[in-house]
Amino acid sequence: MPSVFETAPAAAAIPITFASKANWESIRGALPAEARQFAEANGFAAKPGKCLILPAANGAIAQVIFGIEEESAKSRDPFRAGALPGLLPAGTYRFDNAPHDARLAALAFALGSYRFARYRKVDGPEVRLVPPDGVDAAELARMADAAFLARDLINTPSNDMGPMELETAARDVAKRFGAKFGCIEGHELKQNFPLIHAVGMASTRSPRLIDFTWGDAAHPKVTLVGKGVCFDTGGLDLKPSSGMLLMKKDMGGAANVLALAQMVMDAKLKVRLRVLIPAVENAVAGNAFRPLDVFKSRKGLTVEIGNTDAEGRLVLADALALADEEKPELLVDLGTLTGAARVALGPDLPPFYTGDETLAADVARLARQENDPLWRMPLWPAYDSWLDSKVADITNAPSGTFAGSITCALFLQRFVETAKSWLHVDIYGWTPSAKPGRPEGGECQAARAIYKLLSERYG
Ligand code: BES
Ligand code: MN
Ligand code: ZN
Repeated sequence: MPSVFETAPAAAAIPITFASKANWESIRGALPAEARQFAEANGFAAKPGKCLILPAANGAIAQVIFGIEEESAKSRDPFRAGALPGLLPAGTYRFDNAPHDARLAALAFALGSYRFARYRKVDGPEVRLVPPDGVDAAELARMADAAFLARDLINTPSNDMGPMELETAARDVAKRFGAKFGCIEGHELKQNFPLIHAVGMASTRSPRLIDFTWGDAAHPKVTLVGKGVCFDTGGLDLKPSSGMLLMKKDMGGAANVLALAQMVMDAKLKVRLRVLIPAVENAVAGNAFRPLDVFKSRKGLTVEIGNTDAEGRLVLADALALADEEKPELLVDLGTLTGAARVALGPDLPPFYTGDETLAADVARLARQENDPLWRMPLWPAYDSWLDSKVADITNAPSGTFAGSITCALFLQRFVETAKSWLHVDIYGWTPSAKPGRPEGGECQAARAIYKLLSERYG
């Protein structure tokens, strides 16, 4: 999808004036008498999200007025302007005044122009934006492109996005930036990545561990791990159809890791980047792994399968163990790991976990700054014993249902020992109903906030 940003000088761009309760009277007062009359005849009152298109005498569009919240409003949506691409006729537009945060408004405008067009032509008007003054348009385009990549990968249904297709998508990203690409597939996994093999072996589409590295080997090591479960039936602990419906999105962690990696490489951050994606399908077959099976993980810890539907933490465990072996400066994993995270915080606010207080403060600050919401939850030590198994070192699914997102994070923590800092994010990867800048469907979550963190530290 081409960038919505107009780079050529556009003298004829149509101005968009942002109006809130606070400034609407003065904006109205400055309009020509006919325009004021037109606004009144349309009953326009500058309510958030309402759009008024003012005609010129020759019938062209003279100006757009778009209602937003007041700066101080508790419910202010920094992405409000993301609704504009869905409201405006074709044309090139510019911001006439600053909508509180012009950078986020322009980003929202770009994010709101996304359409999933893989399976049918989606013809909407071509709406373009002249980037506001003082805003780094290349950085915004980088963020929008990455979000589009994550959304496209998640929205693509599982029949066209199996482990092999996910490998191809990762290889494409790696190639574009000259990264060194590798992949271990099928039975080759059995010896050194037993948990990835166990989860993925029941599918006719063979499991794999995608592994690419980029950047100067002397730079600080940053490693990203993404859950790439291309479809999650639950395995023998089969999900009911309602729970299975959206499980094409269970590779949302991988999609967002690729989006994040693309931003890091495109911005040429001074890191030695490594991306690890266990790509599997959690399928049902005669050779599927079973409840109470026990596997010895890559790290050496034996894992009892309390539930075959807790597969994400299993494939991440082996990938995290590998990542941890080279003592990275920062180890990040993203995955659609638990329904419990949604129960706690809903689809738009993924919980993150880390024991590094400075990292936690930075992530929380940047999540807010970039409008990529994240909320810290605790690696509560007292619940660690809930992972005890009667026969193995650890179970993948404690018997109770309390604190499911926390116990998943505690499980993963067992596989991280030497990394200087570790950040885990339990994302949802999906927008259930469209909001400004966030169309319904696959969503880029956590990637932008973490990219900003990396660019602050290693830019
Ligand atoms: N992919 C699911 C988690 C999920 C479900 C994320 C729905 C978003 C929406 C994961 O593999 C899973 O099934 N988790 C189980 C864990 C349980 C069996 C311990 C869950 O959350 O129910
Ligand atoms: Mn599952
Ligand atoms: Zn899953």
